[in-house]
This record gives sequence, C-alpha cells and structure tokens, in this order.
Amino acid sequence: MRGSGSVGAPPGRVGAALKPAGALWALGLAVAVAGSAAATFEPVAARHGMVVSSEAHASEAGVEMLRAGGNAVDAAVAVGLALAVTHPFAGNLGGGGFMLIHWARGDSVFVDYREQAPAAATRDMYLDGRGQVIPGASIVGARAAAVPGTVAGLALAEQTYGRLGWARVLQPAMRLARQGFPVSYALARSLREAQGLLGRFPESRHIFLRDGRFYEPGQVFRQPELAETLEQLSAHGPQAFYRGPVAAQIMATMKKYHGLVSAADLAAYQAKLRQPLVGHFRGYTILSAPPPSSGGVALIEMLNILEPLDLGAPDSFASMRLMIEAMRRAYADRAAYLGDADFVSVPVVGLTSRAYAAQLRAEILAARPDAPVGAGQPERYESGQTTHYSVVDAEGNAVANTYTLNNGYGSGVTVEGAGFLLNDEMDDFAAKPGTPNMFGLVQGEANAIAPRKRPLSSMTPTIVLGNSGEKPPVRLVLGSPGGGTIINTVLEVLLNVLAFHMDIREAVTAPRFHNQWLPDEVVVEKWGFSADTLERLREAGYRLRERSRIGECEAVEIDAATGWRFGAADPRSDGKAVGY
Ligand code: GLY
Repeated sequence: MRGSGSVGAPPGRVGAALKPAGALWALGLAVAVAGSAAATFEPVAARHGMVVSSEAHASEAGVEMLRAGGNAVDAAVAVGLALAVTHPFAGNLGGGGFMLIHWARGDSVFVDYREQAPAAATRDMYLDGRGQVIPGASIVGARAAAVPGTVAGLALAEQTYGRLGWARVLQPAMRLARQGFPVSYALARSLREAQGLLGRFPESRHIFLRDGRFYEPGQVFRQPELAETLEQLSAHGPQAFYRGPVAAQIMATMKKYHGLVSAADLAAYQAKLRQPLVGHFRGYTILSAPPPSSGGVALIEMLNILEPLDLGAPDSFASMRLMIEAMRRAYADRAAYLGDADFVSVPVVGLTSRAYAAQLRAEILAARPDAPVGAGQPERYESGQTTHYSVVDAEGNAVANTYTLNNGYGSGVTVEGAGFLLNDEMDDFAAKPGTPNMFGLVQGEANAIAPRKRPLSSMTPTIVLGNSGEKPPVRLVLGSPGGGTIINTVLEVLLNVLAFHMDIREAVTAPRFHNQWLPDEVVVEKWGFSADTLERLREAGYRLRERSRIGECEAVEIDAATGWRFGAADPRSDGKAVGY
C-alpha cells in the first residue's frame, strides 16, 4: 500500500452509530443527515433557481447570488469560493477543477482549470534509485502540489460569463472567512480525523486543528489569513494569486517545504475554455468533461455500450452484470489511452463511437465474466475527496462544477499567512506507468509526468439535456467526488433517472457499486444490495468487496413539463439543496 498520512473522512460522513441496517438503509440515511431540517424522502422543490452543494453555507451563498440578479455562473463561482472557506476538505483556492456551463439558449462551454505540473517536474520525480515509487512522495507535502488552477478558473468563468462581477461573488466567502461560521459535527470530526496529515505542518495544525485543541461542533471557525487572501483577490483580481502578494506567499511556502512550483509557473498558468464532450443516450444529450478528464470519455463509452440493452431492475443480477462489464472495459481503456490531450494523442472519437461500443457489447454478451485477476489494493482509494456542486438559475442556465485538492485536505500544506491548503494533484499522474496511484487506478504512458502537463482526472461534471425539441432544456445537472469512483457514480445516478425512472432524490440515494478494471473486484455499498443478488454475482465469478459508501452526488433535476427544479443533496454528504 502506498501513501502516508491520515486523510480523514469526508465531512459528510454519517457516524457509524447512525447507520441503519437492511431494508431501512436508504431511508435511514436520509433521516440520519436531516439535522434540523425535516426528514424527507422528497427532493427540494423550487420554481426559479436551485443550488446543491456539499455544504449548507456554500449552497446559500449561491442562492444569495441568484436572488441578487446573478446567473448560474455567478452562483457557481460564489459557491466555489465559499466552499474554499467552509469545506476545507475539498473546497479550495489551492487546487483545480472543471466547470461545465450550459446556456438555455442552447450552447455550452467547459472551463478547464485543472492543475498543471511545474516546469521542473520530471517523469521519474517520485521514483527512488531502483525505480520504485517512493511511498507518499506524490501525496504529502509541497512536492506533491501542482500549480493551482481554481482562482484562474473561477475568475475566467465570472469575467467571461457572470453578471455580478468578481468582487461581488467573493463577498459571501470573505464574510464566512472573516466572521466565521459554526463548525458542524461532520466538519469537527473530519478535521480531527485529519490530524495525522494536517498535524505534520505547523500552519495547518494552527489553523485547522487549533494547535491540537480541535474544533468542537458549534464553535465558530474564523479564518483571518484566508479572509485576507480573499480580500486581496477582491481588491487586485486573480493576478494577486498568480503574480502578486499571494504568489509571494506561495513561493515562500514552496521554498520552506522544497516544492517545485516556481513564480514562473504561477505567472504562466492559464485556465482554458474547451468544448464539452457530447454523447447521446436514448434520445437524451449528455454533456460531460473532455480530457484532461477521463470522466466524459468513460461515461459516454459506458452509456453507448448499455444503451440498447434491457437493464431490468437497477439492483438485479442482470443489470449489475452488464454495468460491471461496461465499467471494466471503459476503465481499461482509461488506463491505456487517457491523458492530457494537449500533450498526448487521445482517441476520443473512437472511444466514444457507437461502433466501438457495439463491438464491446457483443463481447460482453458472449462472454462469462473474466476470472478475477490481481491482488487487492490500497484502501486509500476509498477517500471521498473532491467536491461537486450543481446550479440552475431562473432562466434555465446550468452549471456542473467539480473541483478538488485531490486527497482530503490535499497535500496537508497550508500556504503560510494565506490560510489555504495546497493540492496533491501530482498523484493523479502515473508516477510509474502501470503502478496504481492513491485511488488504486492503474494508468499508462499517456498520463506520465511532464512539465506543464495536466494530470488525468476522473472528475465528471455532467449535464443532461431533454429528449425533445430543437433546443432541449436541461434535464439533469450532476457530478460527484470519489477519485476513480466518480465516473461510475455519475453513470449510476444518470441511469437511475433515465433508464430506471427514479426521481432525483431516489436516484442519488440508491445504493452504488463500482468496478475500475484493476483491481479486478466489484465494490458494493454495504446493506445496499440483496444477499441473493450478491450471491449470484459471486457465483458468476466476481470478487466482491463491501464498503460503507461510494461518492456524493449533488444533483438537480428539472421537470420537463412544468419547469420545476428539484434538488437532491446526497445523503452520504453533509450537503444541502437550496432553492428559491
Ligand atoms: N483528483 C481526483 C480526480 O481529479 O480525479
């Protein structure tokens, strides 16, 4: 097992004592996370706008923007900035991500603000003299950090597509950092559980662990250093981060902890506007993430394989077998072909073609499951890092945004005086092609480290458009954290609505399973599936492994007939859907 340092549980996790068993599994989760809200199995309904994120203050920041006349991008940028304050596990200024935007008028754009390897990065930088991966080197500390993209990406989105302006969308985050907010039970527990990682770096220990005294639920968490950083961004724009005073603070931290990110790397960083990947499933249009994410390619490949098949019931042996076989093939292709398309040639057209899917489908229908291969792999890929949020505004514009520090709390390093954590996104590269990363993902040459290359991601922000009309309106907005499990979580929630006809609350709550080709095992959520189905899968040759939960899908559905917005925060998270 690779890696070191405790990553802690994602803030949303429901305590083990609260977990119900058996048939009450799904309903019990909804009740357990309800807190002061009414326990309900209904999605949150709203007439105009909807924001669903993994943290309540951040969702409310988004709705504040919508009520102030902002559009979905204003709300999405404000949510991203607020999560950097209230959800330090994955919300960030020091990481990167992807924002998928669809306009009600019919066009879409993808903002790629993925982190980038420093110019001094080398292919073998995480290998020892014998060519073996040095445990933890790409995960903990400043050398694990790639050049952050979040500030550039959110600013590019706001300046190009927002209405309210950069200074306005920063306001909720500045307020939350300066005045503080009450720590939830989930955040208190998550911070405490991350002490193995955060305790290694004095600034992180000071800010996030109260110098070892820890935050208790209900205590107010004020972050004056982070407030100062956000105020710098407000006063001087995103250049304060890449060339100005914040850049100087990042450089000082890099020097202290021997990181590779240079002032030139920061100054050169640019978020990029790309075309979203487009697929089709039973008449619906699927918009998703192009490279440097693997998410959209693998999602569309799997949907193409499954499209004409009779999937039956969602938790039946028949549907699970077909989906597992689609997952296995898409993840094998991910390992072989996917990387940053600005550096390597990625056969996106072939991988997402229906003819290729037909060939894979024929293979699946003809074959028994492959015999299990390979040994077990690290539990580390169980980390529920990264965070996703979904926004719809009153005009029907939509944003799906997934961003990340990689590991929960990233590299563990806080930029001194600036109050934000740095990512450990270098671990998303193949430190040694053919060797699993933190998520157990085996990756190939296409994702080897190179200067200024972007590491391959699994983040899959996705928007589904309706199946009628010339300009079909948005039907679903979704995405998830979860490393290598992200793509399958999106696949399953999407199929739950489009193929199994669940409403959005049922779809995000339904139990999940996951196969990523290697290790050759099917991970199933505990208590989620009937013993009979699991037994049939075992008899068919699948090796099963139980896990408490997979992914956290924060999603919005729009009813095609009435236009009502339905928001569902995943009961596996501490999230909240807020509409107006
Ligand atoms: N850091 C997780 C991902 O981008 O897939």
